[in-house]
Amino acid sequence: MTELSAETVQRRLAPRAVRYYDRVDSTNDVALEWLRTGAAAGSAVIADEQMKGRGRLGRTWHTPPGVALAVSVVLRPEAAQVAQVTMLGALAIYDLLEGTGLNDLGIKWPNDVQVKARKICGVLPEAAWDGDRLLGVALGMGVNVRMDFTGTELEDTAISLEPALGRWVNRLDLLESLLDRVDFWYARLGTTALFEVWKSRLTTLGRVVTIENVRGVAENVDADGALLVRDDAGTLRRLLAGDVAFG
Ligand code: BTN
Repeated sequence: MTELSAETVQRRLAPRAVRYYDRVDSTNDVALEWLRTGAAAGSAVIADEQMKGRGRLGRTWHTPPGVALAVSVVLRPEAAQVAQVTMLGALAIYDLLEGTGLNDLGIKWPNDVQVKARKICGVLPEAAWDGDRLLGVALGMGVNVRMDFTGTELEDTAISLEPALGRWVNRLDLLESLLDRVDFWYARLGTTALFEVWKSRLTTLGRVVTIENVRGVAENVDADGALLVRDDAGTLRRLLAGDVAFG
């Protein structure tokens, strides 16, 4: 499917500043470079295919051509709001998916939006600093639209939007809606409302979790997005990053 092209993307997203690539190493790289050279908040980098897409925790993120959405948005938050950018990304994708009519959505801490407990997207905010001055954040988001995970190691844990919905989806429409929702939550960055909605959508709280070498009950999250886990020895542990396994 060729819904995405420089022309269709520019036309649909005007007057937003956009850079579109049929193929790029990583949209986050382009956005980080662009924000260093003056990109306005809301500027968006879109690619049909990524050669070196990055995931959380140093992982690779695969974006083959024609089957996914790979977007990075330049944001200019206050330094004190940076922790909320990861929540913002998850909320924008959650809203996007809810708007397509999907049910059984949830956010697995910190920012994996899941459908029927399977991962359908990834969110990777990366900040650019000039010394101790925050220049901005590239908010990278990848959505599996029609990725086929059959026979891969992700077969049981990942899902794509089209098979989940049972219909074809236009990636240009998705892109426009996603950026609308990013704008919506960006306007609410730093608010209690953003934090509370993110928290209310988490599927992690109240469950027994294992993260790296910590096992216990995920009791709560704090305003910085850290997960508070009561470990088996009764100590409250504050975790800033990691992969949650249930049980
Ligand atoms: C994760 O590991 O869950 C986060 C994956 C983030 C992938 C997106 S795709 C667009 C942007 N560019 C990248 O290189 N990564 C992010």
